[in-house]
Amino acid sequence: MANKCEFRELPDLNKARNRTQSFSFDYEGVTYPDSLVKYLNGKTYFIHTYGCQANYRDEEVMAGMFEHMGMSKASGIENADVVVLNTCAVRENAEQKVFGMIGELKKYKTTDNSRVFCVCGCMVQQKHIIEFITEKFKHIDLIFGTHNITSLPSMLDEVIRKRIRLVDVESSPTKIEENLPSKRLSSFKAFINISYGCDKFCTYCIVPYTRGKERSRLMKDILEEAQELKNLGYQEVTLLGQNVNAYGKDLKDGSTFAKLLEEVAKIGIPRVRFLTSHPWDFTEEIVDVIAKYDNVMKYIHLPVQSGSSEILRLMGRRYDAEKYLKLVDMIRSKVPDVALSTDIIVGFPNETYEQFLETVELCKKVQYDSAFTFIYSPRNGTPAAKIKDNVSSKDKSIRFRELVKALEVGISEKSNAMVGNTYKVLVEGVSEKNPEMMSGYTEKNKLVHFKGDPSLVGKIVSVKITESHTYSLIGELVNE
Ligand code: SAH
Ligand code: SF4
Ligand code: F3S
Repeated sequence: MANKCEFRELPDLNKARNRTQSFSFDYEGVTYPDSLVKYLNGKTYFIHTYGCQANYRDEEVMAGMFEHMGMSKASGIENADVVVLNTCAVRENAEQKVFGMIGELKKYKTTDNSRVFCVCGCMVQQKHIIEFITEKFKHIDLIFGTHNITSLPSMLDEVIRKRIRLVDVESSPTKIEENLPSKRLSSFKAFINISYGCDKFCTYCIVPYTRGKERSRLMKDILEEAQELKNLGYQEVTLLGQNVNAYGKDLKDGSTFAKLLEEVAKIGIPRVRFLTSHPWDFTEEIVDVIAKYDNVMKYIHLPVQSGSSEILRLMGRRYDAEKYLKLVDMIRSKVPDVALSTDIIVGFPNETYEQFLETVELCKKVQYDSAFTFIYSPRNGTPAAKIKDNVSSKDKSIRFRELVKALEVGISEKSNAMVGNTYKVLVEGVSEKNPEMMSGYTEKNKLVHFKGDPSLVGKIVSVKITESHTYSLIGELVNE
C-alpha cells in the first residue's frame, strides 16, 4: 500500500501570473530538523537535473543542503537513499523524458520506505502535472516547487517521520534568499544567479509561470559571491538570469546590468560570461562594458526566436527583425570580433513558409557562431497554446531540418576559419570519445579537443587549431 498523500499547497497558474506581490530579502539561511540530520547522516543522495542553468544552480543548492546533513553523493540513482528529479517544463519532450525517468524509478522503490523519491523543478509548478504524478506514480514521496527549495529539509523530515507522501508547491515567490549552502558542480567554473524569474511573458513560454516574478539580488551579495569564487581560484563565472539585462530594474537603487557586469569584471576572474540577454533591454552601456574589459568574454547569446516581424509580434518579443539587426550592428560596431549565438523556434502557430524563410534569411545576415533550434511546443496556460494551428508537425520537422542545415553552413565556415590560429582554452576534462584527448572551450565558447593530460583540467591553455568540424575543433597544445 502506498503512503497517504498530503496536499499542502498546489500551484495555480492565475496566481503565478500575478506580478503585484512584494517580496523580501531573507538572510536566515536553511534550517535543518535534528531528527532528519540524525536519520540522513552517512546516507547518500542523487540529483538528476533537466533543463537550464537555473536548474543546475538549484541542484548545487540542494546538494549543499544534503552535504550539510552529512550525506554524500551516490554514484547513481540505483544506489541513492534520497533521489531528486529536478525537472524542466519548457517543451513537451523535456517533460516526456522526466515521465520516463519517474517510471524507471519504480523498480528501485523498496517496500520498507527506506528510499525517498522526490520530484521538483519547473514541471511541478503546473497543477495538471502534479495530479498526473500523484495519481499514476505512487512511488514518488515528495513533490516541491521552485519557490520552496530551501524547505526541503523540513519537508523531507515530515515525509520520513510521518510516512506520508507530500505535495507542497507554492505558486509565486515571496522572497530572495541569501546565505544558501552550495556544493558546486565544478571547481573552476561557476554560475552566479543575479536575478530570478522573468516578466517578459513571451506568448509561447512557461518560464514566467514556473519561475515567477523577476527579482534581482542585491549587487553587494552578487559581488561577494564573485569575490569568494575568485579567492577559491575559479577561472570562469557566468552571471545567470532569464533576462540578465533587466537586472536591477526592480531594485530601484540605481543598479543596472552594465554596472554589475563592470564590477564583476573588476574582481579579475579570468573569464566572465552572462546568460541570457534579451534583445529588448540590451543597452549601449552594456556593450561598452563588454568592449572595455578583456575578461568579459566576447560571446553573446542573443535569442532571436524568429526572423519574421509578424511572428515576433505574435510571440510578444517586443522587437522586430529590423530592430534586432540594428542591435547586432551596434554590438559589432563596438565589439568587432564578437561571437553571437541564438535560440530559434520553428513552427510557431500558423507560421507560413515565407515567414520561416525570413528566419533563414536573418540567420544568413547575422552569421551566428552557434544556434539552438527548437520546434514550437504548446505549453498549457500560455497565450500561444490557445491559437488554432494550421501547420502540420511534418511540415514543422521539414522546416526545422532546413534551418539546421542553413545554420550549419555558416557555423562550419567560422570553424574552418579558425584552423591555423591559436586560442585560449579552459580545459574541462577528458574527452568523452577519446581518453587520450582533453576537451575545453575557447573564449567564444567553441569546443576544442587536443592531446594532453588530466593535470590540465581547470587551467587555461593555448591550443593551435589543426582541424575543424561543425560543432568542434581539433588542436594541439602550444607550449608558451
Ligand atoms: N530566458 C531565456 C531562455 C528561456 S528558455 C530567453 O528568453 O532567451 C530557452 C529557449 O527555449 C527559448 O529561448 C526558446 O527558444 C525556447 N522555448 C521556450 N518556450 C518554448 C516553446 N514553448 N516551444 C519551443 N521552444 C521554446
Ligand atoms: Fe521565456 Fe521570453 Fe522570459 Fe525568455 S524572455 S524566459 S523566452 S518569457
Ligand atoms: Fe526549463 Fe525551468 Fe529552465 S522550464 S528551461 S528549467 S527555467
